[in-house]
Amino acid sequence: MGRVPAASPVAVPTHVAIIMDGNGRWARQRGLPRIEGHRRGVESVRTATYAARDLGVKMLTVYAFSSENWSRPPDEVGALMGLLELYLKKELATFVRDRVRLRTIGRVDGLPAGVQKHLRAAVEETRDFPDYTLVLALNYGARAEVVDAARAYAAAVAAGREKLNDSSWATFSRYLTTADLPDPDLIIRTSGEKRVSNFLLLQAAYAEFVFTPVLWPDFTKADLAAALAEFATRERRFGLTGEQVSAPASKPAL
Ligand code: FPP
Repeated sequence: MGRVPAASPVAVPTHVAIIMDGNGRWARQRGLPRIEGHRRGVESVRTATYAARDLGVKMLTVYAFSSENWSRPPDEVGALMGLLELYLKKELATFVRDRVRLRTIGRVDGLPAGVQKHLRAAVEETRDFPDYTLVLALNYGARAEVVDAARAYAAAVAAGREKLNDSSWATFSRYLTTADLPDPDLIIRTSGEKRVSNFLLLQAAYAEFVFTPVLWPDFTKADLAAALAEFATRERRFGLTGEQVSAPASKPAL
């Protein structure tokens, strides 16, 4: 009888981030208004939230509204804000029941007051759930994030709370909107586009990317599982050689 190979542990990403793209095309293909695509996109957020948890992911970040999305037609921006408010209102009880911690990244204070109110309530009421986190990137853009962090860091240096000579990634990154979140291990973009679009540019330094042609409203648990399977085939090197990576204690201190 041949030897049975030891089962190799499947690498599940701790933190998955998704650039949800293709709502407009999904709607156009069906002769529907763009907002219908966004409405179906919200359903996909619901599906992905639970699919990711079922598949062993600990944190899911979704790019729900970028700093640049304000330049879309005003009725689309208004409709997106309305959908967001409705989603938060409806979802809070479910988050509490299912112990989903809700977090946000981005300039939340630039969102409409009603959205901010529901966000604050949801973040506050779910803050102690330790096992699984859904992060909404809202009014988020990586360049704006860096500008905000640089300003706050400079103010801290001026006030004597930070020393310029001690500057490092570890000290500076505490001023980013993602300060207490782990970097994404896997970033997925739907709809066939292969762009980063100002999303988590610094945090993606060692992320793996998976691009899928599936439009966001059609994205299912099976699509997420396929992206995780693709991730599991990747060798992550963090700037090291393949030999170093297979040696123990190989991940460099950055
Ligand atoms: C990109 O599709 C999608 C967005 C700009 C918004 C994403 C928003 C949602 C999924 C709904 C709101 C989310 C929550 C959490 C309530 P697109 O419109 O650029 O599509 P297109 O490229 O096909 O036109």
